[in-house]
Amino acid sequence: MAITGGARGIGAATAAAFARQGAQVAIGDLDAEVAAATAAEIGPNATAFVVDVTDRASVDAFVAGVQERLGGIDVYVNNAGIMPTGPFLEESDELAAHQIAINISGVLFGMKAVLPSMVARGGGHIVNVASGAGKMGFPGGVTYCATKHAVVGMTEAARAEFRGSGIAFHIVMPAIVRTELTSGMPDGRAVRSILPEQVADAIVDAVASGRFDVYVPREMGVLARTSPLLPRVVRDGILKVTGADRSMLDMDQAARLAYQQRIGQAQPAAARPEIEA
Ligand SMILES: NC(=O)c1ccc[n+]([C@@H]2O[C@H](COP(=O)([O-])OP(=O)(O)OC[C@H]3O[C@@H](n4cnc5c(N)ncnc54)[C@H](O)[C@@H]3O)[C@@H](O)[C@H]2O)c1
Repeated sequence: MAITGGARGIGAATAAAFARQGAQVAIGDLDAEVAAATAAEIGPNATAFVVDVTDRASVDAFVAGVQERLGGIDVYVNNAGIMPTGPFLEESDELAAHQIAINISGVLFGMKAVLPSMVARGGGHIVNVASGAGKMGFPGGVTYCATKHAVVGMTEAARAEFRGSGIAFHIVMPAIVRTELTSGMPDGRAVRSILPEQVADAIVDAVASGRFDVYVPREMGVLARTSPLLPRVVRDGILKVTGADRSMLDMDQAARLAYQQRIGQAQPAAARPEIEA
């Protein structure tokens, strides 16, 4: 199996879970050092690759490199993603474009790169990591929600287009997962935060069972399926009562700074004169 964004968080946990099942895993990530350390920690079943999912040539080279090394890809997980948060009107167009390139184009490029070999073989699994934000909308995450709705939409469409090809598609919609991506985020009042290992187990399970909709935790699925049936005023009330209307706005910015620097939402300390002074 091959996974993008596999150096940390959900990606690292998923690579480890597949390796425990005996799979050879290819960890693709922008961050070569962390990817290598993660692969070393997982053991001899894991190999690290450098990939930038925003660059089609880089994704093609990743897929070709993994195929050469592992002799084929039966499971490809489009997991790399970033989540800048904050008021929509304060978001720079550059950051929005960067997010769209990773969260949307990265997944499209991954599918385009790996599907031809799966079609030729008549089988395989494409796992696209979206989010609960792919089914609902949260203040402070306008662009993020747009990208995750796009991942849901493209996976629905690809599943329909490739029906009969033997290829299974899976769309993963986690709630709040304790990784660097959610650092500084207050815990939801209704949907409890979960560990990356729980998402990893759900992905392994979905690939084994062929399940398309993968909500983690499962009760998120009940919320996502029933809320579109409710009147708007009730849906707004649920967002408010659960605290989900503020969770992407009321983040602890100090706790989030390292993450923001990593994804380019904040400048690294050395580039910020007020911190140097
Ligand atoms: N953490 C959550 O609460 C949560 C909830 C729902 C969905 N998700 C989704 O799960 C996925 C993984 O999130 P996470 O929480 O593990 O985040 P994370 O920040 O812990 O890990 C993401 C990894 O992606 C890599 N990456 C970033 N840009 C890349 C690029 N251009 N090319 C290749 N790799 C790149 C990073 O280096 C990092 O190792 C994302 O798509 C995210 O949107 C996360």
